[in-house]
Amino acid sequence: MDEFSVLKRYIEQTLKIQCSNYKEDYIKRRLLSRMRSTNTATYDDYLRYVKAHEQELELLRNALTINVTEFFRDQDVYDILKKEVLPDLFRKRKKIRIWCAGCSTGEEPYSLAMILSDMMAANKELSVQIYATDIDEVVLGKAKEGIFQAKAMAKLSEAQIHRHFTVLPDGNYQVKPHLKEMIRFRPHDLMSGIPAARFLDLLTCRNVTIYFTEHQKDELALMFNSALASDGYYVMGKTEYLGRLVENLFVPYNSLQKIYTRKT
Ligand SMILES: C[S@@+](CC[C@H](N)C(=O)[O-])C[C@H]1O[C@@H](n2cnc3c(N)ncnc32)[C@H](O)[C@@H]1O
Repeated sequence: MDEFSVLKRYIEQTLKIQCSNYKEDYIKRRLLSRMRSTNTATYDDYLRYVKAHEQELELLRNALTINVTEFFRDQDVYDILKKEVLPDLFRKRKKIRIWCAGCSTGEEPYSLAMILSDMMAANKELSVQIYATDIDEVVLGKAKEGIFQAKAMAKLSEAQIHRHFTVLPDGNYQVKPHLKEMIRFRPHDLMSGIPAARFLDLLTCRNVTIYFTEHQKDELALMFNSALASDGYYVMGKTEYLGRLVENLFVPYNSLQKIYTRKT
């Protein structure tokens, strides 16, 4: 087995990240960036380095799973969700189910929870269950904790901060319990083929699949399709797209904002 394959096997066994489902180029680029930072010249050298330096494993996990996110990322998408999609769902039923797949440190599910909290305050009969999942348990831990630095709050209004966050003595902001109670954070690998929840009214998987192979993206679209309720909505990242083999499973609702409904 060549050096690269040996390193990949080590990553799959130790970090439980299925490298073969990601584009090879992508894995190589991420590895090279860690090799530069650790002054290692070959995949072999790097493998020896990881084995000898336990803390490198976490850095490697971070490099492979890129966790960048923010509150109300792509505001236009949230505007449509708030004005059209969520009201449509609540017109049909009083309790809705949402899955945020690849939620990173939680800004995406918390953004949805803020919108929903305001809607539910205006009508006490409404309720929601949000499942928020990620493969990376470190970011999930942060999401559950719900503590954010002041710079993460830039897109939030004063009113939103006041309603949904507590300012901590160190200047950070903590999500209030009424938002946390709406969300169940759980580890989940999107490549497992098994949905983290079913009968979903809304499924968001945004900025997660850009590094997945075409085959893996198609598998995911099939899995998502089976997890959605017959009239459920699916939201992708702005730069993501449905492959030709699976695009007939969904009907565009707002093509620009990458919002689809399930085709029955
Ligand atoms: C760039 S973040 C996107 C966060 C958020 N959805 C957003 O759009 O702001 C991508 C997330 O996908 C997660 N991820 C990558 N591969 C995954 C997999 N196979 N299963 C579940 N999550 C995965 C990463 O851990 C990371 O937290």
